[in-house]
Amino acid sequence: MRVVLIAIPVLSGFLAAAHAETPRADPALVEKTVAATFSQAPEAWRARVVQDETQRQCSLSRNEPAPAEAAAIQAREAGTIVYPADGGVIGDWRRGAAIAQNGQGGQFSDAPGVASGGNCYACHQIDPKEISHGTLGPTLAGYGKSRDFGAEAARVVYAKIFNAQATWACSSMPRFGHNRVLNEQQIKDLTAYLMARDSPVNAP
Ligand code: HEC
Repeated sequence: MRVVLIAIPVLSGFLAAAHAETPRADPALVEKTVAATFSQAPEAWRARVVQDETQRQCSLSRNEPAPAEAAAIQAREAGTIVYPADGGVIGDWRRGAAIAQNGQGGQFSDAPGVASGGNCYACHQIDPKEISHGTLGPTLAGYGKSRDFGAEAARVVYAKIFNAQATWACSSMPRFGHNRVLNEQQIKDLTAYLMARDSPVNAP
């Protein structure tokens, strides 16, 4: 027992020292290195490695901005959300299921003109019957049912898919609408997939 009591402060002191001495990379060098990895890419692709203000703030704070900064990021990102003109956010859940499974789009290997998917299963459980899913994001199984299929909850889902960082400043979930990976109809279809009563996501 005595050994343990002595060892812990010594070890934590050592770790603290090691952390303090970790050299910080020169930001300019990081920028240069990242840009160099895309030097062969077509002109339009190079814009992808240029950070916007939100990405810059999230990188600098290691995704943990101070509360005031987080609030400012969320307000800015919320300002990008465009709701459907007719106010309806529920599309076709069957198409939504296919979009959630589709990981194509935005890749060098895409066939010309291929429609992008949402690749939602990479991070979320959604249909409880689907066994292949990631766990970086929370489970979305039974999502609509757990929110009483409410109209306001559906608008929140639409907004979440359009720009996840409007509600979680440095979320790892992509900003699908803001980045124009998914269009309005696709986001409606995904909203239906999560929120419709007859969607398998909400099956008893
Ligand atoms: C790279 C991983 C990733 C991908 C891909 C992703 N998400 Fe997420 N998602 C997350 C994380 C992490 C959270 C929790 C943090 C947050 O709320 O932003 C989340 C949260 C959510 C929420 C809110 C859950 C709640 O608690 O209310 C919804 C709804 C959602 N995602 C839907 C989707 C849909 C639909 C797609 C596909 C278009 C998708 N996500 C793709 C990571 C991801």
